[in-house]
Amino acid sequence: MDKKTINWAGFSKKTPKERAIFLERLDLSADSVATLEQEKLLPLDIANQMVENVVTRQALPFSVVPDVLVDGKVYQVPFVTEEPSVVAAASFASKIIKRSGGFKTHQDKRQMIGQVALYDVDNKAQATRAILAKREELLNLANSAYPSIVKRGGGACELIVEEKGDFLIVYLSVDTKEAMGANMVNTMMEALVPTLEALSGGKSLMAILSNYATQSLVTSTCQIPLRYLSRKPDEAEQLAHKMALASQLAQVDPYRASTHNKGIFNGIDAVVLATGNDWRAIEAAGHTYASRKGSYQGLSTWSYNSSTKMLEGTLTLPTPIATKGGSIGLNPSTRLAHDLLGQPKATTLAAIITSIGLAQNFAALKALTSTGIQAGHMKLQAKSLALLAGAAESEVAPLVKELIKQPTMNLAVAKQLLEHVRQAD
Ligand code: HMG
Repeated sequence: MDKKTINWAGFSKKTPKERAIFLERLDLSADSVATLEQEKLLPLDIANQMVENVVTRQALPFSVVPDVLVDGKVYQVPFVTEEPSVVAAASFASKIIKRSGGFKTHQDKRQMIGQVALYDVDNKAQATRAILAKREELLNLANSAYPSIVKRGGGACELIVEEKGDFLIVYLSVDTKEAMGANMVNTMMEALVPTLEALSGGKSLMAILSNYATQSLVTSTCQIPLRYLSRKPDEAEQLAHKMALASQLAQVDPYRASTHNKGIFNGIDAVVLATGNDWRAIEAAGHTYASRKGSYQGLSTWSYNSSTKMLEGTLTLPTPIATKGGSIGLNPSTRLAHDLLGQPKATTLAAIITSIGLAQNFAALKALTSTGIQAGHMKLQAKSLALLAGAAESEVAPLVKELIKQPTMNLAVAKQLLEHVRQAD
């Protein structure tokens, strides 16, 4: 079926089985269909090859945020998260942003950085000159340590040297193509060590990839007409102003910036995890980037353009995402995630992930500056409480209805109310 003709309205109201059948309308592989039908999940013997001391597998909910429009193309975005209201919020925001023309993204390049930190270098200026004079030889040496990436059109492409404290640090930029490239970059950096030690007269303390991927920056932007914030023009304008203020607050107060960015990573981590990427690397890069001006700040900004009457959002993030390598090909759920997205290239996946971060932030700021977070979040949190209290499937809806009327919502209250629901039956 033509993906453009699929009507996603009401997807959230379906049962998991109905959603799985619905997704089979996309051009999915037989493997992906088997995963959707629960027949093909991560086997224990594969899990045991992925990491050490395996005893079983941990399961997490795998959801889909439908109809996300990025750079003119619509994606069904896989989310793996344990937190209620994250998927609802991303779906809600993506729907509004699609009606507003979708996300537009930009990235200059997609390269990883490795470093060799040299110490005990007697004359750093002279060592720098000696290293830079051999720049071409060093790039060739790095590439000869990992020739397969050169065959794929990538490889080491830039080398710079900087003095920092007691260290002379050599940074290498590597185009890692579809891979995240940690092994590739680490191999190259270690191959450079003997020559760098000889050229500098110093010793290498370490040779390793940097997760601060400033050469993999992705910017996503969106512009939202006021009418999508509220049907009432005055209320909409006030809300746009408050959302812009909320983004300013995250620039000046690290206490708020931390929560602001946590909200962004609610969505980013969910897609990074679903697509088998290294979420610790993406988090580390994001938080370092948030501190680049000397204090920790919000990663996104929102402003209200009173002449176009649009709320304008921007998020820039180091997003060194991979579509090949690591555990990506091993886990059937990860393969399903890439299939749902239409097997995007690494740069496209990075654009989708950054856009999801902006969507997630939009939903959170809109809720925070209007109804407050609890109204939407707690409605969905109530479902988890109901299940924790022991409610059967048919008891969840009536129990949630009672729970959200309560001034305090906790497990004890949920258990008490479950008794009432059962007695009323
Ligand atoms: P609403 O206006 O009540 O939503 O908002 P609605 O019932 O009118 O539904 C509108 C659309 O939202 C739906 O369209 C869905 O797309 C989606 P439909 O499918 O009906 O045509 N939607 C859902 N999708 C799946 N399952 C659902 C569902 N409900 C709505 N159950 C909503 C409700 C929760 C979306 C809104 O209140 C919201 O966005 N709240 C923000 C929630 C949030 O950000 N949660 C993240 C966890 S809190 C946190 O950790 C981060 C934070 O601290 C970050 C920060 O401080 O910046 C907040």
